[in-house]
Amino acid sequence: MTSFLVALVGALSMATTGNDDARGPQGKYAGNCTDAGCHAEYTKRAVVHEPAGAGSCDACHEEKNPGSHDFSMASAEPDLCLDCHDEEDFEGEVVHRPLADGKCTVCHDPHGSPNKSLVKMPVEELCLSCHKEIAEGKNFLHGPVAVGACIVCHDAHASDHPALLTAANRELCLTCHTALATKLTTSAHKHAPVLEACDSCHDPHGANNRFNLHSAPTELCLDCHDDIAEIMDEAEVQHGALSTKRSCLSCHDPHASNPEHLLTQQPMELCLSCHNQELKSGEDTLGNIDGMLSSNPSHHGPIQEKDCSACHQPHGGDHFRLLVEDYPKKFYAPFDLKSYSLCFSCHEADMVRDAQTDKLTNFRNGDQNLHYLHVNRKVKGRSCRSCHATHASSHPKHITDSVPFGQWQLPVGFRKTATGGSCSPGCHRPYRYDRDKPVVNGVQPTDADLDP
Ligand code: HEC
Ligand code: HEC
Ligand code: HEC
Ligand code: HEC
Ligand code: HEC
Ligand code: HEC
Ligand code: HEC
Ligand code: HEC
Ligand code: HEC
Ligand code: HEC
Ligand code: HEC
Ligand code: HEC
Ligand code: HEC
Repeated sequence: MTSFLVALVGALSMATTGNDDARGPQGKYAGNCTDAGCHAEYTKRAVVHEPAGAGSCDACHEEKNPGSHDFSMASAEPDLCLDCHDEEDFEGEVVHRPLADGKCTVCHDPHGSPNKSLVKMPVEELCLSCHKEIAEGKNFLHGPVAVGACIVCHDAHASDHPALLTAANRELCLTCHTALATKLTTSAHKHAPVLEACDSCHDPHGANNRFNLHSAPTELCLDCHDDIAEIMDEAEVQHGALSTKRSCLSCHDPHASNPEHLLTQQPMELCLSCHNQELKSGEDTLGNIDGMLSSNPSHHGPIQEKDCSACHQPHGGDHFRLLVEDYPKKFYAPFDLKSYSLCFSCHEADMVRDAQTDKLTNFRNGDQNLHYLHVNRKVKGRSCRSCHATHASSHPKHITDSVPFGQWQLPVGFRKTATGGSCSPGCHRPYRYDRDKPVVNGVQPTDADLDP
């Protein structure tokens, strides 16, 4: 209490600094400024400025007339301070405004302070006393901001980096986020904006979204990837994966990955991580692809390559079942070559074009092209699915076990021979074909069989 009063008296007396009416102690006081009863309190603070502690008050305060106890400052700030402190320490391409305005003492107490570095209040409060908005109204605060550790990222005085940062922006982030730094050096594929700057997605201080993202993840991604946004808006067939809660992040890593396209897993494993069960699409129930692939050892070419995207568009598209090209929706389809663009982007379309052939396909009886016969029909052409399994099968040539026909699964009953084969489908009575010794007329299906 006493020291407070002393300080107060001292303060009142000095408050008139520069005023000729000297108040305070009687002139010609010969003692020391910090003698008991005078300004002793200055030297009892936890942190004392060295010249004040040494009683060198006159380094900063000059008595106007000897013994008058009427003081003026030895010089104006910042020169007052820079007489002893190296000016170079306060220079940089960016100088903090209060320094540029020459006001060291808005932050520092020139005599002493309870706080480290003589700051007038704990540094955790000091910065926010002028920059309230940095932490205000944000649901999530970045770890160091939440504890007011502004100076781990900012130099209070000056810096050669924008925004007074203590290091280049991105490098600064990576000095603490070392797990990500390691991931970025060890991953084969890196997301372009992550190599530029973290703050294109994250606010360094805080935000209303988790992980301090500028906007919710999907919206954030679509801000830059407007081509994907367009697909999502306009695609006739939407992929349910994009409307799950994680959306883009259920397949992509925002920073880096080893699989290409920033995928979180190898592409096929990724697809099968959701398609390992039946899924609902509108009225339809989609089969369990993972289960089907494991129980059918003979996988279609692109699936052997683990490339579901060879046929499907992951983000949405205008074709049935997200296919990259046209493919008929139904068991029966009036023949139009275009409607089979999917299959014929990899296989020879000629196999269904000519009624007679001795080379375009092995599905022939002598030179009668049985692909042509089944598929190339004006009304009830059989789509490829009526005989072939698209993903995998247990039979040669990807012949399917059975085909869905309304509510019924029609068995196909395919048997292959060296020069042909036979089937006993639910569609018609059993038939055989043989390339070398064509099966005799009458045992072959007729148009009447095929268009009942
Ligand atoms: C490094 C420069 C410096 C030194 C050394 C210094 N002062 Fe000060 N003093 C100032 C400044 C600058 C102010 C103006 C107040 C402000 O802006 O915080 C001041 C203000 C004061 C005041 C007015 C009240 C107050 O606290 O603001 C008193 C009294 C005072 N000083 C006494 C002393 C005494 C006694 C000493 C020696 C023990 C001393 N000063 C040493 C710079 C200094
Ligand atoms: C007469 C010389 C002198 C003047 C004038 C001076 N200082 Fe100092 N200051 C020192 C010395 C000596 C130290 C202790 C050694 C060091 O840290 O450089 C110091 C230390 C400091 C520290 C660090 C204290 C700590 O404990 O970390 C701050 C902050 C500081 N001074 C601010 C100022 C400000 C602000 C001014 C102007 C109002 C100023 N100084 C004027 C000599 C001076
Ligand atoms: C906006 C507030 C602010 C202003 C204005 C300011 N400082 Fe500082 N200063 C700080 C903070 C905060 C620290 C503590 C930094 C730390 O602990 O890393 C500091 C530390 C210091 C130190 C201790 C050594 C160091 O660099 O860490 C000195 C000396 C110093 N300041 C001198 C000055 C001088 C001289 C001026 C005016 C030219 C000045 N300061 C203006 C906030 C300020
Ligand atoms: C006395 C008030 C005051 C205090 C205390 C203060 N600042 Fe500032 N700061 C300002 C002003 C004024 C500006 C300039 C604002 C502007 O240009 O809009 C500024 C600008 C900044 C900038 C932007 C610099 C740039 O050029 O981009 C940063 C970063 C900053 N302050 C950080 C801090 C930190 C960190 C602290 C605590 C160590 C702090 N400030 C304490 C007043 C203060
Ligand atoms: C993790 C590092 C980090 C911390 C901690 C941090 N900042 Fe920043 N701050 C930045 C970066 C990076 C920028 C540059 C922002 C940009 O480029 O958009 C910035 C910019 C600023 C600016 C300039 C204006 C603006 O909003 O962009 C101010 C003022 C500021 N910070 C104040 C503070 C204050 C006050 C604190 C403590 C409460 C603080 N910062 C803590 C990294 C940080
Ligand atoms: C001084 C160390 C430090 C620096 C520098 C730093 N961070 Fe952090 N960051 C942290 C801490 C501590 C956490 C909190 C960790 C936790 O909660 O698990 C964190 C958390 C995060 C989080 C996750 C937030 C959450 O809700 O879990 C993100 C995103 C982040 N930082 C981004 C950045 C970016 C961007 C930068 C550069 C502008 C940066 N960090 C610089 C220390 C740092
Ligand atoms: C393209 C946008 C984007 C950029 C650029 C970006 N991030 Fe992220 N970051 C995200 C998203 C989205 C998440 C949330 C991930 C989640 O929910 O799984 C995230 C999460 C984080 C997390 C917390 C979770 C984790 O993975 O540890 C940290 C820390 C982080 N980012 C740091 C950084 C740093 C550091 C940089 C710069 C080197 C950076 N980010 C650049 C989008 C980005
Ligand atoms: C600030 C803009 C920006 C944001 C935000 C952004 N990206 Fe990117 N992204 C790019 C750029 C630039 C590229 C590289 C150019 C390109 O391939 O289009 C890229 C490339 C990609 C690639 C292709 C990588 C490859 O190797 O094929 C994927 C996948 C991707 N981003 C996903 C995302 C996801 C998911 C998000 C949201 C978490 C996101 N992006 C947010 C700018 C952005
Ligand atoms: C179901 C998983 C999945 C989801 C969800 C997903 N993607 Fe992709 N994405 C992929 C795959 C697989 C590729 C590789 C495409 C290819 O091989 O054709 C890819 C490629 C990309 C590419 C680079 C190539 C291109 O097509 O431009 C970008 C950019 C991209 N995705 C952004 C996004 C964004 C943004 C979101 C969220 C709106 C998103 N993705 C959601 C699986 C997904
Ligand atoms: C050679 C092209 C091709 C490849 C490669 C391919 N698909 Fe398909 N997929 C199709 C066709 C064609 C359909 C439509 C089948 C039908 O309706 O008869 C389909 C249908 C689907 C369906 C809907 C299933 C249903 O019961 O209606 C899913 C789910 C699917 N595919 C997932 C995948 C996954 C996952 C992969 C990778 C493991 C993959 N596809 C690889 C061509 C392909
Ligand atoms: C995050 C879970 C998830 C992942 C990963 C995923 N899907 Fe899907 N997929 C779904 C859901 C849910 C549906 C059912 C809703 C719908 O029809 O889109 C679906 C439907 C489909 C359909 C049928 C679309 C229709 O309605 O006709 C195909 C084809 C498909 N996915 C292929 C793929 C392929 C290829 C991949 C890998 C690139 C993949 N999916 C990855 C969740 C996923
Ligand atoms: C992205 C290319 C691609 C697409 C699209 C494609 N396939 Fe294939 N298909 C292949 C490859 C590669 C093989 C494997 C050839 C091999 O094993 O020698 C193959 C093999 C086959 C076989 C077995 C051939 C044999 O001689 O063993 C049949 C039958 C088949 N595909 C039918 C279809 C049908 C029906 C479609 C359309 C729904 C289709 N394919 C779409 C690439 C494709
Ligand atoms: C009525 C049943 C049936 C239909 C419909 C059918 N296929 Fe076939 N396909 C077969 C049979 C049986 C074989 C095996 C021929 C052999 O090797 O004996 C075969 C073989 C193939 C082969 C291997 C090469 C060849 O021609 O011998 C390909 C590729 C193929 N089919 C693609 C298709 C495509 C694409 C469609 C749809 C446009 C389709 N198939 C429709 C029964 C059919």
